[in-house]
Amino acid sequence: MSKLVRFGVSLEEDLLQRFDDLIHRRKYTNRSESLRDLIRQELLKQEWEEGGDVAGAITFIYDHHTRELLNKITDIQHDHQEIIISSQHVHLDHHNCLEIVAVKGRVKKVLELADSLKAIKGVQHCALSMTGTANKTAK
Ligand code: NI
Repeated sequence: MSKLVRFGVSLEEDLLQRFDDLIHRRKYTNRSESLRDLIRQELLKQEWEEGGDVAGAITFIYDHHTRELLNKITDIQHDHQEIIISSQHVHLDHHNCLEIVAVKGRVKKVLELADSLKAIKGVQHCALSMTGTANKTAK
């Protein structure tokens, strides 16, 4: 871990009040930790915009009785196997399945896979959660 550096920040009083309310709601114990997370988040965003590597998970729900749905989902995952680390299938109830696909690779490829899965008719609640793989933004 690199050396800690202190720096002063000037802020309008009402803006600081709103920030304190926000970090309280998000259960941060102090301003420094929340600022660090905000900075990391912005650095990650920049990395993604520059097309860097990301790791993440794509989660979605579908009714396995829907015709051809399972085949389409499998085909798309095979087409993107170079960025898929693992996938987990959970039988939620009689109809619904939950699938969690762990991914790692170029942000463009990851977004492409998430969009392809989302676009399949019958796939519901498809969500992508991404984080960086670079050490400079790691905690
Ligand atoms: Ni299932």
